[in-house]
Amino acid sequence: MTGFTEIDGVLHADNVPLTQIAAEYGTPTYVYSASEIKKQYDALAGAMQKALPADRQPLLCYACKANSNVAILSYLRSLGCSLEIVSEGELKRGLKAGFKAEQIVSTGVGKQRSEIIAALEAGIHQFNVESLPELEHIDQIAGEIGKKATIVFRLNPNVSGGGHHKISTGRRRDKFGISEDSIYGAYQIAAEMENVEPVGLSVHIGSQVFTVESFKTAFSKLPDIVNNIRAQGNTVTRLDIGGGFPIVYKDEKLLDLDRYAEWVRDIILPLDTEIIMEPGRYLVGNAGALLSEVLYVKETHDQDFLVLDAAMNDLIRPTLYEAYHGIEAVENRDRPEHNYDVVGPICETGDTFTQGRDLPEMKQGELAVIKSAGAYGYCMASNYNTRGRPAEIFVHEGKSYVIRARETLDEIIDQDTVPDFLSA
Ligand SMILES: Cc1ncc(COP(=O)(O)O)c(C=O)c1O
Repeated sequence: MTGFTEIDGVLHADNVPLTQIAAEYGTPTYVYSASEIKKQYDALAGAMQKALPADRQPLLCYACKANSNVAILSYLRSLGCSLEIVSEGELKRGLKAGFKAEQIVSTGVGKQRSEIIAALEAGIHQFNVESLPELEHIDQIAGEIGKKATIVFRLNPNVSGGGHHKISTGRRRDKFGISEDSIYGAYQIAAEMENVEPVGLSVHIGSQVFTVESFKTAFSKLPDIVNNIRAQGNTVTRLDIGGGFPIVYKDEKLLDLDRYAEWVRDIILPLDTEIIMEPGRYLVGNAGALLSEVLYVKETHDQDFLVLDAAMNDLIRPTLYEAYHGIEAVENRDRPEHNYDVVGPICETGDTFTQGRDLPEMKQGELAVIKSAGAYGYCMASNYNTRGRPAEIFVHEGKSYVIRARETLDEIIDQDTVPDFLSA
């Protein structure tokens, strides 16, 4: 059995009981299923293989902001992924995981000098440029260190796409990309620069894109723009069509990958460019769960609470985006339901995973999992309330591996330094 499945009444990850993982590594702990990651990769790559000719397959650049553990990166590399990064830290992680620099694309609206230098020196595939000042900065730095930067411009297509307003990135008013009216001028400026070479466009409209037609709307803007840029006498050899593929958290309708691939075939393929995609959440989101223990069952007049040992510092999505995550008991899963708020121990009312949800009746000391936590989970974790970040466990073919140890309190506290005059 693969993924998160129930075997003899106990939830397992790739055939390892979550009870065993909790006993061995403690809680709260992130658990990842390798087979679920592979299933997702195969589905996406397979849809593209079906729709596009073998010599026109896209570069699938995993957007590692979703989950940047080096073991996860290494696994995705072994499956055939390339990489999308947003920082020097992610570049380092990618190189450590064995990606070649030419498999890596660098995105983000605020690239810093040190990041640009590191990426140029490594020799990455391309920078996705989001503004003229950024273009000038890259040109200047590349000149200083004797490199030429390959760039594409991120188009802001004025299409609303994300599943929550905080992760919708393609609207005109958003901070991302360059509008169509400005992109021709920017392309011309870049073409005349000494140290950059503009080779194409990118477009990424948001994350968890439910309104799947938004992809088509955004893609449909590209042919005219590409043709206009070519008519200016400039070359367009790459199109990066971003990520944003949705996963199921509750009962969402999944993106029909075959339809998506047909849009790529019908709209993007004829433009005769290299095709790049940047899936993040889709590859890892459903492959992760946050395993937690019920610390207390607190009963009040108004509402009963399950107080978990996991908190908003471990998984902030419910607090930040009002995100829904499935919550399940790990053992004895067939039991009557009870209405709970599920909360963490942190001193904020916002430290709430769900409110007023009917869940299996649970007791103190029992294990619960918060599902679909593989993307934007651990990587957004913090030390708020001086809580160590959880352990991360990777399960592959029935064996569990620690891919990041639980953070100790000394590791956190020892980073503070006290000026001499205040020392005790
Ligand atoms: C430029 C870019 N590409 C790709 C992604 C990945 O998005 P998703 O995880 O929804 O696929 C993001 C997410 O923020 C992004 O900003």
